[in-house]
Amino acid sequence: MLTQEQKQSYQQHGFLILPDFFSKDDCDVLMSQAKQLIASASQDDNKTVFSTLSHKHEKERYFLDSGDKIRCFYEDGAFDEQGELNCDVQMAINKIGHALHDIDPVFRQFSRADRLSSLLTALDIQDPVLYQSMYICKQPRIGGEVTCHQDSTYLYIEDQPVTGLWFALEDATLENGCLWAIPGGHATPLKSRLLRDQHDNISVDVYDNSPWNLDEMIPLEVSRGTLIVLHGMLPHMSKENTSSRSRHAYTLHVGSALHPFAENNWIRLKNQAM
Ligand code: FE2
Repeated sequence: MLTQEQKQSYQQHGFLILPDFFSKDDCDVLMSQAKQLIASASQDDNKTVFSTLSHKHEKERYFLDSGDKIRCFYEDGAFDEQGELNCDVQMAINKIGHALHDIDPVFRQFSRADRLSSLLTALDIQDPVLYQSMYICKQPRIGGEVTCHQDSTYLYIEDQPVTGLWFALEDATLENGCLWAIPGGHATPLKSRLLRDQHDNISVDVYDNSPWNLDEMIPLEVSRGTLIVLHGMLPHMSKENTSSRSRHAYTLHVGSALHPFAENNWIRLKNQAM
């Protein structure tokens, strides 16, 4: 599944780009299914905004209870001054999370494909488990910035950091807000952790409050059908989308049943077996 060079590159840089990992048809099928999920899931009255700038969502029950559900979160820029949607709902959703891989049959099948199991084996992830899935829209003109972070801040696992799988369903370019990462930055110790206690209080433990050196970031421009593997300690981000084109992506975060998932992570999980 992976060559020795690819494995070494992943160990060295903390990310791995696999073009044409899945087909254009897969992209179309997932995008079509996401459209239906948005149409149905957005029927409820909740209009929780997801923003890594304001962090407002982190205190909302709608967000905190979404670990085993399919829920839609909105772009900050999708509302007018009166708090009303200023565009069609299909153009207003920031992302859908966090259990598409478990609940939705189409995403479930894609997330449990044999080629993914083979990839995780090649990455030395034994007895893989799927923690969360997200469908990220990065809408034209209002797609919000995702500030630089390590995924382990949000999904902490002892010994073997979480692995992110980022599937490009559309071309991701400088214009529409592709991923950026610091090559080799996964060697940096964890800078912070988002914690949730037994009473559902959310807090952040900061271990290092020095800013990331964004000059070290490089853009990861990829075409649709590409899978980017992200080490859980890799600093990465994406800028806002000011272009006229969306940048849809599907993500999975995976780990191993051999390494326990910290109980004070924000997300509450049910069954995650692959
Ligand atoms: Fe991330």
